[in-house]
Amino acid sequence: MASLDIELALATDGDARPLAMLARDLIESGLGWAYRPPRLAALIHDADTVTVVARTRSQPIGFAIMRFGDERAHLILLAVKPEHQRRGIGRRLIEWLLESAYVAGIASVHIELRASNAPAYAFYRALGFAETIRVPGYYRGRETALRMIRMLRVARLPLG
Ligand SMILES: CC(C)(COP(=O)(O)OP(=O)(O)OC[C@H]1O[C@@H](n2cnc3c(N)ncnc32)[C@H](O)[C@@H]1OP(=O)(O)O)[C@@H](O)C(=O)NCCC(=O)NCCS
Repeated sequence: MASLDIELALATDGDARPLAMLARDLIESGLGWAYRPPRLAALIHDADTVTVVARTRSQPIGFAIMRFGDERAHLILLAVKPEHQRRGIGRRLIEWLLESAYVAGIASVHIELRASNAPAYAFYRALGFAETIRVPGYYRGRETALRMIRMLRVARLPLG
């Protein structure tokens, strides 16, 4: 199946449960299930948050959620089903959100990922994110997080 057969759209109410299942299985495995359907539904309805879903034949196969602040945006969740990975879907989801963030005047986009998650680290590096710091115990006091940043605009420094 060509990746062009995959459609991206904003999430709707009916996506809360399938997206929560993807979060549980692909992002939170071994940590407990924090992003349950009611929490996903709240994010889908949150005016400061954008949830983009990738679908094939109406079925969600990937999604990304970003919260927009005044100058910073934070990528909250991102996952693509294993059988659809390495087909550019994650890139399409993130590029949608990065373009939205740029138009919204956001200066920087921030993410945390499990330090052990080498595929996600390679993915974010490929999309122009750079590592900033490590935060031991960030995940339920058990796992180290890696923070990464992607600058969208460079702040102008006042001239001396
Ligand atoms: C991270 C994730 C979302 C990437 O999605 P994807 O659709 O497979 O990514 P893409 O196909 O768009 O990859 C874009 C580029 O990222 C890099 N990349 C992606 N996955 C990679 C991997 N497993 N190993 C090395 N590089 C990788 C490559 O440079 C790739 O380009 P290429 O395929 O032309 O070489 C997916 O692996 C995933 O859902 N993982 C489980 C959940 C997760 O870890 N989420 C992120 C933390 S919240």
